[in-house]
Amino acid sequence: MPKVDIKKTELVWSGKYNEERVLNPVERPGPFPLQVSEIIDNPKVNRNNSQLMLYDNHENISNEGWKNKLILGDNKLVITSLLENFAGKINLIYIDPPFATGSDFKVKIPVGEKSEIEEKAYYDKWGKGLDNYLQMIYERLVFMKELLAENGSIYVHLDWHTAHYVKVMMDEIFGYKNMINEVIWSFKGTTISAKMYGDKHDNILFYVKNKGKHIFNADSIRIPFSKETKFKQDENGKWYRQYLKETKKYYASQDFINGKWVIRGKYRYDVIDDVPSMGTAHGYEYLGYDTQKKEDLLKIFILASSNPGDIVADFFCGSGTTLAVAEKLGRRWIGCDSSIHAINTTKKRLLEIEKSKDLMNKNNLYGKKARPFEILTLDSYERKYWQVKTFKDISDCIAFILNAYGAEPILDYTYLRGKKENALVYVGDLDSPITIQNLINAVKECKQAGGQELHILGWEWEMSLNTVIQDIAEREGIIIKPRIIPRDIMNREAVKNIRFFELSYFNVDIEIEGNQLQVELKDFIIPHKDLIPNSIKDKIEKWTDWVDYWAIDFDYKENIFNNNWTSYRTKKDRTLTLKATYKYNNPGRYKICVKVTDIFGIDTSQLFEIEIK
Ligand SMILES: C[S@@+](CC[C@H](N)C(=O)[O-])C[C@H]1O[C@@H](n2cnc3c(N)ncnc32)[C@H](O)[C@@H]1O
Repeated sequence: MPKVDIKKTELVWSGKYNEERVLNPVERPGPFPLQVSEIIDNPKVNRNNSQLMLYDNHENISNEGWKNKLILGDNKLVITSLLENFAGKINLIYIDPPFATGSDFKVKIPVGEKSEIEEKAYYDKWGKGLDNYLQMIYERLVFMKELLAENGSIYVHLDWHTAHYVKVMMDEIFGYKNMINEVIWSFKGTTISAKMYGDKHDNILFYVKNKGKHIFNADSIRIPFSKETKFKQDENGKWYRQYLKETKKYYASQDFINGKWVIRGKYRYDVIDDVPSMGTAHGYEYLGYDTQKKEDLLKIFILASSNPGDIVADFFCGSGTTLAVAEKLGRRWIGCDSSIHAINTTKKRLLEIEKSKDLMNKNNLYGKKARPFEILTLDSYERKYWQVKTFKDISDCIAFILNAYGAEPILDYTYLRGKKENALVYVGDLDSPITIQNLINAVKECKQAGGQELHILGWEWEMSLNTVIQDIAEREGIIIKPRIIPRDIMNREAVKNIRFFELSYFNVDIEIEGNQLQVELKDFIIPHKDLIPNSIKDKIEKWTDWVDYWAIDFDYKENIFNNNWTSYRTKKDRTLTLKATYKYNNPGRYKICVKVTDIFGIDTSQLFEIEIK
């Protein structure tokens, strides 16, 4: 055993050093090309009760061509991919990662007009000890530092579980001298234990890239003086304080606004106690996402540590609090989360932002549309990375998928890979969608083997395939169940609870009159519901209850979905509009893409071709 030569104090966990006590280099995956899956730029958001939702007044901030970014994927891969274009360009990073609480967290999803279901949003279990958690945070912080601009800041939101460890880690990564504050968010509420002090604060570690060059707008986050602080006005109306037995006047910082002197308030301390927790305040901004933070808290950090037009990023964005606040405060933003529910919640939050409270004047609604944003994914690159990192080879990976599905691997077939009870199972490739040809091959082999039932497991599907699948099943006289391999299979914790849902399909009626098109959603079908728990099926009263969101691109091109029209349910507004209309300016042939997202967050898209004369 080599002699330990201790030269500095540092945090060590299993995995940080190798057996020769040499620091393990941080693995740098990618960069992978981020794929735009949806662009949200001026869609008409349909609400029965509001014509105001037309995107007529969205503002364009200075950075022409820029689109804010919401990225689905593991943030380690996303951050290392962003480094190519964004190294040294991000002015503020706020992250609110899991705190290593050992719990699972949920999101409430509206079902129809009355019910809701709870789905697992994310997991905060890390196995024995904290090593896995610390390694996860370490790898990400190292790369986040590279993303920070010279004047950049980073806020890491934690609590007692890990704040002390991460503090020591951040001293090592960012430099002890670059720590600015440990901000305490002290929230109020009832104490639930008589055996300990009530747990009423979070710890937010605030570091910068270069102390001294960093942005800190202390004036923009001042707070009002308490009522006990007595100010008097002089003959010009200016505010001052005077202490007993003193004649000297202590003038407050103040501005002359609308003919009056107005006191600016006092500088903030590192304890924030004027922002209640979401638990106690639920109120208007609560979206049903566990661990959702308050907009007022993010407002303080974003105002203090960035300027309008700066780029603000949150790589554990959850329900999108940071992004919504950055949007309202005129900052550009990049958000990332590995949970599909987080991305869907954030997307709807931004589409509805106009109706949320204004942050600068609480009595007003924000009243503006979100600026254009795009949804990106790592697509098959994330799956390939997972396969290469986790499995010996592709057969090992397929065996894992089959096992998670409750099937056994089988050999001696060209296309079929497994057997589940009486059904034969086909497993799609990681890097390409299931095509009609895959289907034909699997059906042929299934029939040759005398099979009556075929299960197709796929990560992605050629558009509109499911309508064809049902025809083939009928023609060939076998049962075909197309099932989606959930992305949660890539998460060690989540894999214990995963469900393979059936690929659904829907029917629409399309009517053309002159240059006007009407699309009506007529039906949403999940043919085989055997894998859907009864607790969920019991809540479904009609087919529309399966639908959470649907959107249309009236001129679909180049595999990017431009969201021109959308209708969706929110916690407060459950209405779903089933008819969309659109006027074309020019005659011609157009492709229309209709995308329906169900209550499990799964997208189903179908393409239609039309001609406008
Ligand atoms: C505490 S929540 C964030 C809540 C958020 N601040 C809000 O106001 O809604 C943590 C989020 O991190 C996400 N997450 C966890 N590990 C991740 C990873 N490796 N990559 C991307 N997101 C991750 C989870 O899905 C979850 O949404």
